[in-house]
Amino acid sequence: MNTKLSININKIALLRNSRGNNVPDILKFAKDCESYGSDGITIHPRPDERHIKYKDAYDLKEVVKTELNIEGYPDERFLKMVCEVQPHQCTLVPDAPGALTSDNGWDTISNQNFLKEVVSRLQEKNIRVSLFINPDKEMLDAAKNTGTDRIEFYTGPFAHDFYKQKEIAIQPFKTASIYCEQIDLGINAGHDLNLDNLKYFKENTNNLLEVSIGHALVKDALYFGIENTVNMYKRLLK
Ligand code: PXP
Repeated sequence: MNTKLSININKIALLRNSRGNNVPDILKFAKDCESYGSDGITIHPRPDERHIKYKDAYDLKEVVKTELNIEGYPDERFLKMVCEVQPHQCTLVPDAPGALTSDNGWDTISNQNFLKEVVSRLQEKNIRVSLFINPDKEMLDAAKNTGTDRIEFYTGPFAHDFYKQKEIAIQPFKTASIYCEQIDLGINAGHDLNLDNLKYFKENTNNLLEVSIGHALVKDALYFGIENTVNMYKRLLK
């Protein structure tokens, strides 16, 4: 089974914002990624709009031909924008407003009612919903109860421990992916995935539908160029 690659273009927006003009043009970058084989484009607008701006979401919806995935904490401003843009997928993350990057999954038990409401509000707009989550059975059960279509495994801890002992680092994800299959939850994954750890992650999890990758992929593009880099990642996902 091929796993889809959704490229997170936050870092390209960060570069653009550093000069206050439109260089690099993130719409062109997104279109180019698609033409080189990316299966989707991911953006994560944060409340301070330090990289992706809310307006970018509307503009990208007009040009992305594959799948647009919008990630973020579901406050009222975010939800209004997502319901207007109607991306293919919305990934809900529990980030605090000033978070540097997402660094934990949802507590789907204590946020059960809130998530249920948000999930159904998005699904009413025909948006597929994914919940960012740690590979924990109780959290998966409670995620399933929210009605979400998919979960996205927070892979930061895997990536961190991969270089120490990959067999141990993968274990919770292996077990959780088998469980997701049993309870019929689609699986995405993301955070700190890279050219070293991606193939191992894919080969050791069941039914990995999609990965979203930004930081490492943009770093690799500095050395190999974006077209080569997209192909290198895609090869690992076959
Ligand atoms: N998934 C989520 C929910 C994220 O917040 C991020 C980072 O924006 C990613 C995936 C991608 O992580 P990375 O940039 O480390 O590839």
